[in-house]
This record gives sequence, structure tokens and C-alpha cells, in this order.
Amino acid sequence: MDKSALSERLAEAGQSHILQFWEELSPEEQAGLAQDLQGMDLLEVNGFFQAAMELSGSAKQEKVDNHMEPIPRGVLGSVTRDRDSLQAWEEQGLRCVSQSQVAVLLLAGGQGTRLGVSYPKGMYNVGLPSHKTLFQIQAERVLKLQQLAESKHNTKCSIPWYIMTSGRTMQSTKDFFSRHSYFGLSPDNVIFFQQGMLPAMDYNGKIIMESKAKLAMAPDGNGGLYRALGSQGIVENMSSRGVKFLHVYCVDNILVKVADPAFIGFCVTKGGDCGNKVVEKTNPTEAVGVVCKVDERYQVVEYSEITLATAEKRNADGRLMFNAANVANHFFTLDFLRDVVQIHEPQLRHHVAQKKIPYVDPQGRLITPDKPNGIKMEKFVFDIFQFAKKFVVFEVLREDEFSPLKNADSQDGKDTPSTARHALLSLHHRWVLNAGGHFIDENGTRVPAIPSHVAAESISTDVNMNLKDGTDLPIKCEISPLVSYGGEGLEELVAGKEFRPTLVIDKDGAHQLVKNGV
Ligand code: UD1
Repeated sequence: MDKSALSERLAEAGQSHILQFWEELSPEEQAGLAQDLQGMDLLEVNGFFQAAMELSGSAKQEKVDNHMEPIPRGVLGSVTRDRDSLQAWEEQGLRCVSQSQVAVLLLAGGQGTRLGVSYPKGMYNVGLPSHKTLFQIQAERVLKLQQLAESKHNTKCSIPWYIMTSGRTMQSTKDFFSRHSYFGLSPDNVIFFQQGMLPAMDYNGKIIMESKAKLAMAPDGNGGLYRALGSQGIVENMSSRGVKFLHVYCVDNILVKVADPAFIGFCVTKGGDCGNKVVEKTNPTEAVGVVCKVDERYQVVEYSEITLATAEKRNADGRLMFNAANVANHFFTLDFLRDVVQIHEPQLRHHVAQKKIPYVDPQGRLITPDKPNGIKMEKFVFDIFQFAKKFVVFEVLREDEFSPLKNADSQDGKDTPSTARHALLSLHHRWVLNAGGHFIDENGTRVPAIPSHVAAESISTDVNMNLKDGTDLPIKCEISPLVSYGGEGLEELVAGKEFRPTLVIDKDGAHQLVKNGV
């Protein structure tokens, strides 16, 4: 092992402390450390640190806040206000799918720290009657949408599914898909690729060591996507398959409409090269970014970077001024994505997340800090909105499309396995009611059908209230994505029929589970 070349490189970058324990390491540990450093451009990492620190801090946040403007109506389409156009958008989207022009791209390189599991979040089972994981639900939606497009246009098509993982999630994600036979998808159409990692730094720009032989490394944020797309030839892969439009989304939203034809069709019809899906933000402290304009450019101001005073601003009608909540569903044309990868990516700055990062001190002791002692640097996927020639925003209903899984279950918990499960069961309950089905209780009495819009208004509050009571209020009704993608096609299965929960509708028909627990 050539220590002197390594020391020289580290000294040049002001990171000599990394070799402090070199002589104590075994040959294997030395080789491991040298290998980790080999692939890393230390001067570039130092540059990232400086740029990120310059652009972070409360003074900078206020500066951004002072320039924020709500998005103008002109760029906005809405599932509620534009009902007349919705069908045409859906048809347009489905046409694109049928011509194999649409691909989906899943961001699944996160570490799921808040949820507290050691495996990729997509493998999480929120306790539905079917026990399906997030990955399975998404895979089945892809499959179903493909079938819908094929039967409508009497053709064969495919929706390639690109899955971005990180060093931490790659192998387990791949193994999981392979163990489950890709959930019925063709393995050729499921393409895994890996984002980069960056070292955590202390406030003086020194790389933090998590042990004597290991750097503290973390994925470089979901905006690491663009570098990974370039370095791993993914844009060419998309091009060679004839892909024109991308739906990029985050792994944790149980209601995600993968490759949503209405969203795709809306963006394509409006001539957008970049689009974003939003729901109305009603609580100023909700952990969601908001889409807005800053100095004439569109961007998302992340929840960690907005001041409370701005988040709390309201319009005359009482609604939040910045209420376009980013639900982490993005639309890009492949041409736009190519420009981002080839031209704009280096201009994206890293955001700073202050963290408590376990480290070895100069005496070689492992310390677990009780307050933040350093930063992780992350690029954000939506930071490319500023480069769009035509940016459009699609507003959807929260209760139909957004229930993310972020945290472990707890009393009063938000965005937990229970709230995700309840959101899906409630949606499917409403689908059955809308298709003319009914539910009866244990005495055979019909459970009153709650009109959809009332349920819609009350559901998010209900979910949290019910959790407090410890009751599981939503009617337990789960419909396989293989049966229905968005509530369609259920009439012949449920119209005029009465069901006693738990009701599961899968591709073999409707089943009532005898045991009433999930
Ligand atoms: C994200 C959005 C936020 C939005 C919210 C909605 C970003 C930066 N923020 O916030 O604006 O309102 O979702 O739920 O997108 N990931 C990677 N690699 C990484 C880090 C994350 O692929 O290095 C993936 C995760 O696996 C996940 C997604 O990115 O699928 C979002 O990451 P997460 O940390 O959960 O984002 P939030 O902070 O919840």
C-alpha cells in the first residue's frame, strides 16, 4: 500500500487527519480505506463544502424568502377545477404510454432514517390485508397501466422502470425484486442504477471518520440522480428504448399514481418540458417543500429552508400563500433531462443538512454526539426546475394521491405506517362506493355511504383522530392494483352488492376475509 502518495493527496486537500490511525489498521482495513479514497476527488469535495456552506444559513434563507412569489394560475392545471379537460389529458397520457414513450423513475436511494428500518423503504409492509410492500404496489400499478394502454390502443407496449438506489440500498433492493420475480414485470424493463455518495464533514470542512478505518459516507441526495444518469449511461438507455417522457417519483407515497396518464397528458398537452404535481398545503409546519417563483424562476423551497414567518403567510381567503405542496412527483421530457445531465448538473449546489454524526475523536474513541456536529451534503431532485423552458404544475387531491410514509408509528404520528394504510383503505372504500357497492356491518345493517367529497374533506383529520383513539376506523377494503389502477373497472364486480369488511378484491375476484384484523 503506497501510503506516501495517499498522504500527499490528503495533505494537498487539508484532510491529513484521515490517516491518523493508519499504523493501527490491519492490511485489509488499510486497503479498504485506500480504496474508498481512490474513487474520491477530494478537491472537488472541498469545493462542494465551501459552496454549500456559503449558500446556507438563516440570513440566506431570509433572502430567498423575501423573493418568493406564489405560482401564477397560468401554469396550473387542476383535477378539480379543470374537470372538462381531465379526460382528454388522460387519453393523451395513455396514448403516450401505449407508444412506449413513457418511463418511470423511482428515487429509492434514501436511508429511511426517520422510519427507523435498516432495509430499503420500498420493502416496507404497512400492514394492508394483502401485506403488499410499497415496491409491490408500485410494480402492480405499472403492470396494470401497461395493460390498460394496450387494451385501449390494441397494441403492445412497455413502461420501463428505472430504479435509483444508493450504495446502502442497491443489493437488498435487487435481491428483493429478484426474490419476488419482479412482481410480474419483465426483468428487462426494470433497470437499477446507483447514485453517488459523499463524505460527511465537520463545520471546518474536515471529513468525519466513523471509525479509525472508515469515512462517514452518505448518499448525495435525490438530486444525485442527474450525475448518476450521466455516469451510468441511463439517458442513452432511455433514448434507445424510444422514451420521450419521464415520471420521476419518491418511494414512500403509498397512493402514488405511477406514470399517471392524467399528469403526463396534462404536461404534454401544455407543451411543458418540466412539470410538478402538488396538493394543497394547509398546515404551515407540514414537512413538504412548496413550489413557488423566486426571481422569475420556478423552484421548490424545501421545508427545511423556509422561515416560519413565510410558511405562515396567508391570503385574504385564509389559505396559505405558499400552498403548492410538492408531493415529489415530477415530469421531465427526455430532451430536458439530457440538457440537465449534459449542461446544467454542475451548476446545482448541495444543500446542507446539519446532523449528529458519530465519529472517532483524535484519541480514537467513538463518540455519539447529542447535538449536530457536522453536515451532510445533498442535491435535490427539484433544483432543475429553474432550467425549464416551460414549467407546469398539476394540482391533485391529497386524499386521492398523497400519503407518504416517513415516520415510525407513534401516538399522534404523522406520515406513519398507520396513516399510510388508512389512506389507502379509505380511498379503496370510496372507489367501491362510487362503483355502486355497499358495506354492511356485523348486524347486516348498511354502513351509510359517505359522499365522496365529504369523505375527502374529513379524511386527513379522521385518520389522525382515529389513531389517537386507537381505533381503526376506515372500512377495511383493499383493491389490488392489478384489478384497478385508479378506481376504474369496478362496477361489474361491486355494483349493487353488499360486502362485509374486510373486503379484498384481487384478480381472482372479491373476497371477504373472515378474520377482521389486518
Ligand atoms: C421530499 C421532498 C419534499 C416533499 C416530500 C413529500 C426532496 C428533496 N424533498 O422530502 O419537497 O414535499 O418529499 O413527501 O425531494 N432519496 C434518494 N437519495 C438520497 C436521498 C433521498 O434517492 O440521497 C429518495 C428517497 O429514497 C425518497 C425520496 O428521495 O424516495 C425523498 O427523500 P426524503 O428524504 O424522504 O424526502 P423528504 O425530506 O421527505
